[in-house]
This record gives sequence, structure tokens and C-alpha cells, in this order.
Amino acid sequence: AGPRLSRDSAGLRSDLWRETGDPPPVSPCCRRTEAADRAAVLTVGGETVLHPLCLKYPTALQYRRLFLSELIKKHEHTGADPLDVLYNALGDVLNTEENTVCYKSYFLPSGDTVTLSESLAIISEGTTGLVTWEAALTLAEWALQSLDILKHRTILELGSGVGLTGLAICKSCSPKKYLFSDHHPRVLQQVAKNIHLNGYYLDEEHDSQHIGQSVKAAEHGISPENIKISVVDLDWQSVTEKQLSHFQAEVDVVIAADIVYDPGTIIILSKFLNQLLSCIKGGRTLEVYIASTIRNHETYTFFKVTLNGSGLSWQVVPGPKNTLFSQDVNFSVEILKITLQQYRRDGRKFVCA
Ligand SMILES: C[S@@+](CC[C@H](N)C(=O)[O-])C[C@H]1O[C@@H](n2cnc3c(N)ncnc32)[C@H](O)[C@@H]1O
Repeated sequence: AGPRLSRDSAGLRSDLWRETGDPPPVSPCCRRTEAADRAAVLTVGGETVLHPLCLKYPTALQYRRLFLSELIKKHEHTGADPLDVLYNALGDVLNTEENTVCYKSYFLPSGDTVTLSESLAIISEGTTGLVTWEAALTLAEWALQSLDILKHRTILELGSGVGLTGLAICKSCSPKKYLFSDHHPRVLQQVAKNIHLNGYYLDEEHDSQHIGQSVKAAEHGISPENIKISVVDLDWQSVTEKQLSHFQAEVDVVIAADIVYDPGTIIILSKFLNQLLSCIKGGRTLEVYIASTIRNHETYTFFKVTLNGSGLSWQVVPGPKNTLFSQDVNFSVEILKITLQQYRRDGRKFVCA
């Protein structure tokens, strides 16, 4: 005898199959593989929507509903008996109200995870920064394969959004310090929450120099591996002299993902990068890497041309060798290494004022 469905599950089952017709009848050959199918489906469920991490930090409701419905249909199409555990999970989802935020969890090669609380909408509260963008995934993959560039370094991330790249780096690349930065108050608040959610604390000493009414004192403390983490309120358009000289004295590597999408912002960003790369003190070096999703070739070309016009050179860096996260394959992501041009357009060598 097959498992007994509760009345709720039985009702759900007929709802689920009403539109697509009943599952096909069971043939004797299919019965033989039923135990294997059942185990496979439970494994898939257990590693996705029924994973303990996903139960604690649930993904978008609509995603879970579609995923569970599809899993149930695939399972029952093999002729197997219905699985209560899937119907119960679907029932829970259907009884939950849709929210405007969700969690997303990413598994790192070490087995560690990054969990983020983010918005469901691409633009919300007047910013694009409350969701994870494609280039953030590629930049994180590249970073995990570029330990020589990031280990024990002080890293400044521009336009960090909700923090995927930075948290993946903190968990896998042992930076000395990591400065998440953005100019939007809600984004700064959200990235601070995500830092905390992933077991890290903000470095009190550093914060007092840089920001941030939005960050609660309770979130200050010592982070794993003693990585110093800060959230910096940094607008490229209105960077202060104090911030600039602080970054120039302390930061080794600047990174950013998906910040190149608007011609107005591109001009501001290029000017800021020129200011930052100029006058680095005491023979130090500062490396800049920017990952961009190429959605519009004209905008991206404008970025490269504007960099050159702002006294900066760029070279394309080989992307990550291994893909770790599932991504939209319709767009390509390119990473540029940006440096200061040695010579001005009139042929004179650049000299710091
Ligand atoms: C498309 S989102 C990308 C977020 C994140 N890097 C990612 O890839 O998921 C662009 C981010 O750049 C930030 N940004 C835009 N203009 C900025 C400026 N002038 N100064 C600082 N941050 C800015 C936005 O607030 C937003 O968080």
C-alpha cells in the first residue's frame, strides 16, 4: 500500500494535477524503480527547498512553490506513489503570505555558505543595490580563484550592494580588512545585516572613522579569523579628501561588480578611480578590478573610452576557470584591471601634485 495522504495533501494533489491531467498509470517495470526514484527525489528536495538552511532562511515563496510543484510532478510521472513530505512542504508554502524580501544561500567550495537577505524586486526603495547582480557572482568566483591577489590584503569594495562578493571573500580568501561601501542608506543597512547574519561583526574602531548611523553598535565585535570588517558610506561623486587619503594609505585592492550601467555614473566613477589611483603614498600599489555584465555594448564601450579619457588604462583579466554558482547564460561578464596611465596625453609623465 502506498503512503496515506492526509486530507490536505490529497486536496493539494488533485489541485496540482487538475490543470495538467492525472499522472500516468503505473506499469510493473516502473514499480521496481520506485524506491530509487523516491530516494532521488528526497535527495533533490533535501539539497534544495527542504535543506535545513533553506528551511531556516527561506528563498522566495514563488520559487519554492514552483520548485516543489515541479518536483512532485516529475516524481509522480515515474509512476511512484505520492510523497507526503513534498505535499506537506507545498501546503506550508501555499499557507504562507508573499513577502517583499527573501533569503538566498550560496554554497562555497569549502562547504561554507553565504546567506543573504535581499529584495525580490530588481529596483526597490529607489536603489538597484538590494538584490545580487550577475557580475557579483562572477567576481566572487574569480576572487575564490585569486587568493594571491586578495589574501591578507585590505580590500575596498565599491557599490557592494547586499554583500555576496565581499562575504564570499571574507569566508574563503582570508583578507586582512574588508571595507564594504555604497552610497545608499538602505543598502548600507542591509549589507550590515547580512554581515551579521553570516557570523561577522563590524570593526568598531574603523567604523567610527567612516560612518554610519545606520549600523547598530550591537553589531560591532571581533570577526572570525580576526578579519576587520567595515561598512563605509562612500559616494564616488562626493568622496572627501579624508576618505581618499585614508584609502590611499591603507587599501591594497579595490573591487566592484555591476556598477557600470549608466553613462552619468560612468563619468563619476572614472573620475573617482583617477583620484584614488593618483598619489598613492610610500611606494604602495593599489590594484583595481571591476566586473561588469555586458548588457549594452554601447554603454560598456563608453566605460572603456571614459576610463582612457580619465587618464586610466584597462586590461581584460581572465575570468574564473570554474563556475560555482548558477548564472544567467544570456549575458557575459568581463573583469577589467584598471591602472593609472603613466603618461599624460601631451606626453609628459604623470606627477602627483
Ligand atoms: C547594480 S547594483 C550592484 C550591487 C552589487 N555590487 C552586485 O553586483 O550585486 C549597483 C550598486 O552601486 C551603488 N552605487 C551607484 N552609484 C553609486 C555612487 N555614486 N556611489 C556609491 N555607490 C553607488 C548602488 O547603490 C548599488 O548598490
